[in-house]
Amino acid sequence: MSATSNAEYNAKRFNPHGLIPQTNLTAYGRRVRTSKVKDPMLAPQGQVKIEWARAHMSVLEKIRTRFQKEQPFRGLSLGMCIHLEMKTAVLGETFQAGGAKVAITGSNPLSTQDDVAAALAASGATVYAWHGVTSTEHQENLLRVLDHEPRLLIDDGAELSVAVHTQRRGLLAEMVGACEETTTGVHRYRAMEKDGLLKYPVIAVNDARTKFLFDSQHGTGQSALEGVMRSTNMLIAGKTVVIAGFGWVGRGIALRAKGLGAKVVVTEVDPIRAVEAVMEGYTVMPMKEAAKVGDMFITATGCNRIITEEHFPDLKDGVILANSGHFDVEIDVKALRAQAAAVRTARPNVEEFRMKDGRRIYLLAEGRLVNLAAADGHPAEVMDMSFANQALSAEYLVKNHEKLEAKVYTVPPDIDRSVAKLWLESHETKFDTLNEEQIRYLASWQ
Ligand code: NAI
Repeated sequence: MSATSNAEYNAKRFNPHGLIPQTNLTAYGRRVRTSKVKDPMLAPQGQVKIEWARAHMSVLEKIRTRFQKEQPFRGLSLGMCIHLEMKTAVLGETFQAGGAKVAITGSNPLSTQDDVAAALAASGATVYAWHGVTSTEHQENLLRVLDHEPRLLIDDGAELSVAVHTQRRGLLAEMVGACEETTTGVHRYRAMEKDGLLKYPVIAVNDARTKFLFDSQHGTGQSALEGVMRSTNMLIAGKTVVIAGFGWVGRGIALRAKGLGAKVVVTEVDPIRAVEAVMEGYTVMPMKEAAKVGDMFITATGCNRIITEEHFPDLKDGVILANSGHFDVEIDVKALRAQAAAVRTARPNVEEFRMKDGRRIYLLAEGRLVNLAAADGHPAEVMDMSFANQALSAEYLVKNHEKLEAKVYTVPPDIDRSVAKLWLESHETKFDTLNEEQIRYLASWQ
């Protein structure tokens, strides 16, 4: 076979529908690697999934229609690192509709859905993501995204920005800014700002009320338990479920676990949140005590070393361990492996650790976010609001970045409120507005 026919053969073999562009140019005209996905032939299957999500993301759809007309990102190179599944694909498409050139990678080895990644690549984005990437591959993929010289970043865990600030400092001068999706990422950006290292404005999309009240709370609440139930096929009713961290994520999981009939135990380090948990009817105790009584554990602290070698000897036989925090640092999997006598796969996403005394400990999804690794993540209706905040905050950065400083900003309240209004509008829910007399009354002190 000649060189040319070889290339043709490969193009047909890997891109049978002509779906994935074979070359890519950056906004500056530099040639970069094309998409790297598991199997481009999965694109049609991924497209069906994306259509399902799009049908349930009416706010984002309205924004996309406007972006299509107004082209706020025309020609702008945009880098994304985010859990690559059907809802994020809709966000990626929204930026593309607004004129952005999108390069994207996944945010976790187990949350990437290969068919969705292929479909997104077929839609014109450059995708570097496949299910099960190693941490080295993940780091390479972050840099591949940065090879596109993005000026705007959509980050989930601050990973792209940390790579820009440490390994690609040449990009800093042209950077418009970044939007951050999750609590852990916001913590990292605030730490960078505090240390005087942050070099461009960041919008903490996570901190929008229309994000954390719905996505973190109701989205993770439902999907984390879905991940546990799908992977174990176990009954929640009657179980003692220990939730570590009573933040927005933890309280959402606690609420759904209670609704399913669990006895909920909460561990906390913040006294106010511990009081909240008590008043919601949960039992609060330190992890050292909870370790002895729990049937299922779900960590959601954003902190590290929540369930460790100190707790494994106290756990009951058959206990389930899962994490819903951003990074896989809440359950010390390395120590669990070291203490175990034998390890085997019990079911997909369930590893059985047989301890020396015969007890079995079951770890879900390798201790990575259980709702994304063992289920499909948040329902589309809540991600609709989170991603509407992402889209509008990114547009805000493009329009206002010259006036902004290199610090972490909250989502402008007008954007937050407009997302809620659009959501109500698309769910045919009307609500009251203050009349003049009421506005005067609320503004007066007499
Ligand atoms: P948050 O800050 O509202 O809540 C965390 C809670 O954990 C706080 O109340 C804190 O006092 C408590 N905590 C911290 N260290 C602790 C420790 N050592 N022991 C016990 N409690 C401790 O944060 P949020 O928004 O609830 O997020 C929690 C984590 O979940 C973050 O890593 C975030 O990035 C992640 N997240 C994951 C999602 C998912 O899809 N799985 C969705 C949204 C957020």
